[in-house]
Amino acid sequence: MGIQKKKIAVLVSGGGSNLQSLIDQQENSFFEGEIVLVVSNNKNAYGLIRAQENEIAAIHVSKKDYPTNELYDQKLLELFLEYKIDLIVLAGYLRYVTPLLIEKYPNKIINIHPSLLPSFGGYGFYGLNVHQAVYEKGAKVSGASVHFVDEGKDTGPIILQKAIDLDQNWQPEQIQTEVLKIEHQLLPLAVKYFCADRLVVENHRVIILED
Ligand code: GRF
Repeated sequence: MGIQKKKIAVLVSGGGSNLQSLIDQQENSFFEGEIVLVVSNNKNAYGLIRAQENEIAAIHVSKKDYPTNELYDQKLLELFLEYKIDLIVLAGYLRYVTPLLIEKYPNKIINIHPSLLPSFGGYGFYGLNVHQAVYEKGAKVSGASVHFVDEGKDTGPIILQKAIDLDQNWQPEQIQTEVLKIEHQLLPLAVKYFCADRLVVENHRVIILED
């Protein structure tokens, strides 16, 4: 009996380029999973359009209807149960994830962050802010991290990382562009390993089992 295809939900807040890389790799059968649900807190998130264009359920959950973090995540939980979700991917998702979801999906929520965690992670480090801080510090390398989500902010067990050398002439926007390319490689690979049941967490460290 082969591995059952995992059902994947992707949460977005913006353009959804990481979602797009997952959709493209799913088309290539790169991982044993199917994106069956895309949710955004932002009704104008282009990520919702990308989902619709690919016949994937695209749902806007408004914070007006679910005004507290707990009520909001309770609604997400209902959707995840309805769609029989095995893996939740945060791809440019900017809302706080409450312990409610984390306890229901332990080491089943993956986040992509545009820096080499733990550096340049935590509250306030999102989007261009991350690369602005990297630039101002004069860092010589940056990169992307994929990690499991725990109760902290960008503090969960690290699954994959990839570093790039920074050209000293790059402004934050160029750093962002180059790091985004890394993200688009790393996130599908982490999803591939998850769908193949190759990720094991031991003492906050992620072990990738041999294929
Ligand atoms: C990306 O830099 C991602 O690392 C961060 O949100 C940004 C937007 O990603 N979490 P996307 O284009 O919406 O996927």
